[in-house]
Amino acid sequence: MRFLTLLLTCASQVLCASATRAGTVGTVGTVKTSDGIRLHYNQTGPRHGQNMLFITGWRQTALEWHKQADYFSSAGFRVTTYDMRGHGDSEEPDFGYRLSRFAADLNDLLTQLDLEDLTIVGHSMGCSVAWAWWDQYPEVRKRVSHFVFADDVASLVANPHWTPAEKAQLGGFLTPAMMYDLAADMTNQLAPLIESMFTPNLSTSDFEWILSQNRKMTDAHAATLFLHQSSLDWRDVFPRITVPSLVLGGELSIGPASAVEWVATQIPGAQHYTFTAAEKGSHFVFWENPGRFNSMVEDFITQ
Ligand SMILES: *[C@@H]1O[C@H](CO)[C@@H](O)[C@H](O)[C@H]1NC(C)=O
Ligand SMILES: *[C@@H]1O[C@H](CO)[C@@H](O)[C@H](O)[C@H]1NC(C)=O
Repeated sequence: MRFLTLLLTCASQVLCASATRAGTVGTVGTVKTSDGIRLHYNQTGPRHGQNMLFITGWRQTALEWHKQADYFSSAGFRVTTYDMRGHGDSEEPDFGYRLSRFAADLNDLLTQLDLEDLTIVGHSMGCSVAWAWWDQYPEVRKRVSHFVFADDVASLVANPHWTPAEKAQLGGFLTPAMMYDLAADMTNQLAPLIESMFTPNLSTSDFEWILSQNRKMTDAHAATLFLHQSSLDWRDVFPRITVPSLVLGGELSIGPASAVEWVATQIPGAQHYTFTAAEKGSHFVFWENPGRFNSMVEDFITQ
């Protein structure tokens, strides 16, 4: 029924119609998590293409991956994007805004969609969701063939008891006070926070659109999730990752490039690259320089 509706909706659109002829028509749907929450997903590309799953950062939406979805689906991959709990077009319950639940949601999604031989591309908190999932679901790990971790660090908040050397490795670009202040003033802090994640070259219309995607989640739930994710430390997970991994950072990112690189040194055999300032290496380099980001990821998967 949904497929029929999609075909009818597409009938007048040239692009969509040609996609139908090539057998690559997208599928939009929902999966229901084990605690009863509906998560929105979107699949594009040939049905039997190699699987890729993109996981957004905190507050971002599946639609923000469209430059990747378009590129990789045209290149023959089967691309899945989804909105995490409370994000985008997924259901926003009043509970579950912690990464153990987000890992369970991810597990529900990839088992219900039966994704195998899967490349997971995480961005920012999306990497932490993948790390939590890898940690919690060892029996399901065999579904994953590659990981790409874009711009996440071992810990967002610095423990005041760390040595300077530990802080340099682990990231820790927030103090505990900054974390709580930001969460308490989410409504006012959101726009400057998002702005700091891009280069100044981002157009106003792109900025407004990204902000509107962020605002699909309420500030209260976003603040709860922000507090939880910021205080976690992932360093014990890295040495136990056993699939080929690519770790990507950026010279202009809010996440210190040296701490992103340190993640790569902890994952056995991981590859690493830091996007330069000239390459618009911001926290959102996948949006600001999709050509460079996409070819980097494709080379890694197909090498
Ligand atoms: C599904 O993803 C494709 C590729 O990014 C996009 O063009 C389309 O608008 C998306 N559909 C929905 C309903 O989000
Ligand atoms: C940003 O825009 C300025 C002015 O248009 C330009 O000189 C600069 O090269 C741009 N930076 C990047 C990284 O594209």
